[in-house]
Amino acid sequence: MRSLADLDVTGRVVLLRSDLNVPLRDGVHGPEVADDTRIRASVATIQNLRTRGARVVVISHLGRPKGGPDPKYSLTPVAARLGELLGLSVLVAADIPQARTMAAALSDGDVMCLENIRFDPRETSKDPAVRQELAGELSSIGELFVSDGFGVEHREQASVSDIARLLPSAPGLLVQTEVDVFTKLLENPERPYVVVLGGSKVSDKLAVIGKLLEHVDHLLIGGGMAFTFLAAQGYEVGRSLLETDQIETVRGFLAAAKGRGVDLRLPVDLVISEKFAGGVETRVVPADAVPTGWMGLDIGPATIAEFESVISQARTVVWNGPMGVFEIAEFSRGTQLVGEAIAACPGMTVVGGGDSAAAVAMFGIEGFSHVSTGGGASLEFLEGKALPGLVALENSL
Ligand code: 3PG
Repeated sequence: MRSLADLDVTGRVVLLRSDLNVPLRDGVHGPEVADDTRIRASVATIQNLRTRGARVVVISHLGRPKGGPDPKYSLTPVAARLGELLGLSVLVAADIPQARTMAAALSDGDVMCLENIRFDPRETSKDPAVRQELAGELSSIGELFVSDGFGVEHREQASVSDIARLLPSAPGLLVQTEVDVFTKLLENPERPYVVVLGGSKVSDKLAVIGKLLEHVDHLLIGGGMAFTFLAAQGYEVGRSLLETDQIETVRGFLAAAKGRGVDLRLPVDLVISEKFAGGVETRVVPADAVPTGWMGLDIGPATIAEFESVISQARTVVWNGPMGVFEIAEFSRGTQLVGEAIAACPGMTVVGGGDSAAAVAMFGIEGFSHVSTGGGASLEFLEGKALPGLVALENSL
């Protein structure tokens, strides 16, 4: 695979696929970026290209628009924030013909954006011929392709994988860093290797749990997904989140962990409430004593202490998914304290993207070796799956 430095970018139009899929909120003058982490993470590659005299056309998706342009998903506020970070104006081309015209007028070091690529339904088509048609049109905008949207590398989509086969291509600096980190985790983690998993649904993480059980020394499970594990052990979980159809699979994980000598830990106590809301009565109870009508919404203090102790001994820690409903103060302690314990661990510490990265930003926790910009992509990497965007780079022109 080529590296970014191998591309001769000076004076050439470079198509840069970034993942600028960020949350928006209502601002005084319209929608504005609520969390610019992914935009900031994309700046290093853009600056690298600019200082080498490239003319940069950024391509990204935002959200999941349904098959056509929708102002709600416009990249305009994202381009405005990118412009602020770069200290220049970043114009947005409405479509590919306009992008071609605007790109032809760029000077060395200029940056522009193409409007949300998912406004074109061909981007996400399951039919390769349809995607390739769009990729062909995109490739007519520029001469080179740089793939820097790590968060979307697990998608077989026109601007992610198909285009890389049509133009001389290379990974951007962000993708290179993410790939280096996750390759190390997959192939050669220093031990003890601890993975902390949380989040609401165990069904989202079945494949990764299966794979992790082959690799890790300790698997610490909190968040909503823990209740399916607790139920698999025969505990009553009241009205807590529960995926009854996964109980058998989860029993298999518990047996596999035992068979392999993996220390799989579940919450030993819980913060419970009768309502999924703030400002309500909460109690701390043992994990096998959730009363009927109550639900667990965070791990309890004894669990936090156990998890902290395992984490403090680790040489490698990966964290994916919050320990509780961290957006509500009463149920935020588990996520915050476990996050802080991971950040304080002297080994290699990696936060998978998505909700845990949002929690890290919310609590202002610093000191991790790496906070990934990829949610689904980082999980699929850890599963050992080939990511289509990266495979396409291997087979690039
Ligand atoms: C993400 O937010 O995980 C990426 O931007 C991919 O988005 P998608 O799940 O809509 O493909």
